[in-house]
Amino acid sequence: MTPALELVDVQKSFGRSAIIRGVSLAIEAGTRQALIGPNGAGKSTLFNLVTGKYPVSSGRIRLNGEEITELRPYEINRRGLSRSFQVTNIFSRLSVFENLRCSVLWSRGYGYSFWHLVENARDVRERAETVMEQLNLTARRHMPAGLLAYAEQRALEIGIAIAGGADVILLDEPTSGMSRS
Ligand SMILES: Nc1ncnc2c1ncn2[C@@H]1O[C@H](COP(=O)(O)OP(=O)(O)O)[C@@H](O)[C@H]1O
Ligand SMILES: [Mg+2]
Repeated sequence: MTPALELVDVQKSFGRSAIIRGVSLAIEAGTRQALIGPNGAGKSTLFNLVTGKYPVSSGRIRLNGEEITELRPYEINRRGLSRSFQVTNIFSRLSVFENLRCSVLWSRGYGYSFWHLVENARDVRERAETVMEQLNLTARRHMPAGLLAYAEQRALEIGIAIAGGADVILLDEPTSGMSRS
């Protein structure tokens, strides 16, 4: 079976520091995998290569069998890969609901619609609503994301990554700073 995500001898150097020295892996569809290592091991860097934030120094990356090595982050996202960030990356002045709705929009083909049309897009609203419930954030729906407690912001960050319906999702230290519950 074609792996959902495949890395072939991926390398990355910053200047003369070789940080990623030949990573090869194949992630099967329908599985959940963890990448572990001490601080500075290169986990976030590897995510930044897979998602197109940084160019690889060498090696190939494929998503569902399709070459994505040279693509821009938004192009990779539109091919079905989404991510969260180790440092929370949300729209702090938009509400919780608006943050989730933004994430759903592209996936439902509403790329450049005007907001008043988006307000009426029932499928978008329902998807954002569902994710908000799953995250236990419904009570915070109107709150600007920047005013949420830290753990709630982390939860919203995960929600933004999953709300768009990507089929490969990378979460970078999704629970850092959160309690067990
Ligand atoms: N943009 C960059 N420029 C130079 N060095 C970097 C850059 N990003 C990460 N590094 C270095 O790469 C190494 C791995 O960092 P990182 O991927 O953040 O590790 P991890 O996420 O596993 O803690 C560290 O030594 C870090 O300083
Ligand atoms: Mg990291």
